[in-house]
Amino acid sequence: RKPVTTAKLRKMKEDRNPITVVTAYDYTSAMLAEQAGVEVLLVGDSLGNVVLGYETTVPVTLSDMLHHTKAVTRAARTSFVVADLPFATYHGSLDQTLRNAACLMQEGLAKAVKLEGGAEIVPAVRALVQAGIPVMAHLGLTPQSIHQIGGFKVQGKTDEQAKRLLSDAKLLEEAGAFAVVLELVTDELAREVTDALSIPTIGIGAGASCDGQVLVFHDLLGYAGESHPKRMVKEYAAVGDVIRGALQHYVQDVKARQFPAEEHTFHKPEEVASHLYG
Ligand code: KIV
Ligand code: NA
Repeated sequence: RKPVTTAKLRKMKEDRNPITVVTAYDYTSAMLAEQAGVEVLLVGDSLGNVVLGYETTVPVTLSDMLHHTKAVTRAARTSFVVADLPFATYHGSLDQTLRNAACLMQEGLAKAVKLEGGAEIVPAVRALVQAGIPVMAHLGLTPQSIHQIGGFKVQGKTDEQAKRLLSDAKLLEEAGAFAVVLELVTDELAREVTDALSIPTIGIGAGASCDGQVLVFHDLLGYAGESHPKRMVKEYAAVGDVIRGALQHYVQDVKARQFPAEEHTFHKPEEVASHLYG
């Protein structure tokens, strides 16, 4: 496969070829997603929830994002890596916004950044695009503003909110965004936005008419240990159960002195050396 580019993603929309996006936070999972044929790896600030154990994405810092972006880009060969700009890192001066995004690209080797918000972030989007930084936008439910929104609810419900979201999407396209994530919006509104834009829409809880779909790695694998998975998530595996079971087995084996067995054991020093260095 040739490396995925923003031009390729736009072409995929034209061809009605659905774009697959999954979040990734570390080397091994990014490698697996790459091998599975995922086109875009999103180093989402959802790592605050599923990797770092925070309640929201608000505490996630630029240095957290950089740390995980580096791990993901070391595994990415042909997939396109987008890194989230975290909470309040693109609302100060354009100069500071540019420096923060440049950090994720120059040190983290991300190919693009993602920003949450509508009309109010258009100047930031424009400045980044002018500096050669591809920008993915994010509308609908924007988790970094959760304390302002007041809860995880479907967005764009009233006519006025829906109009606003559509006009935000158009402004972001005009400002140069190469794609827009739509999170928790009705199928009907997502379809309208998708039809109105020439850049791809990537949905999460936004119905089937978006140009692509994104899910959180831990959610789609049943890794996060949620007793009631969110409605927008399909669990393709129960990896959490598999891991817990394997760990329980390991604990039992060690307690019963079943592990290590003879085949895991060295007797001569030369064996150790040849195994480690040979
Ligand atoms: O951080 C994240 O995982 C995201 C996706 C849900 C779009 O922003
Ligand atoms: Na995010």
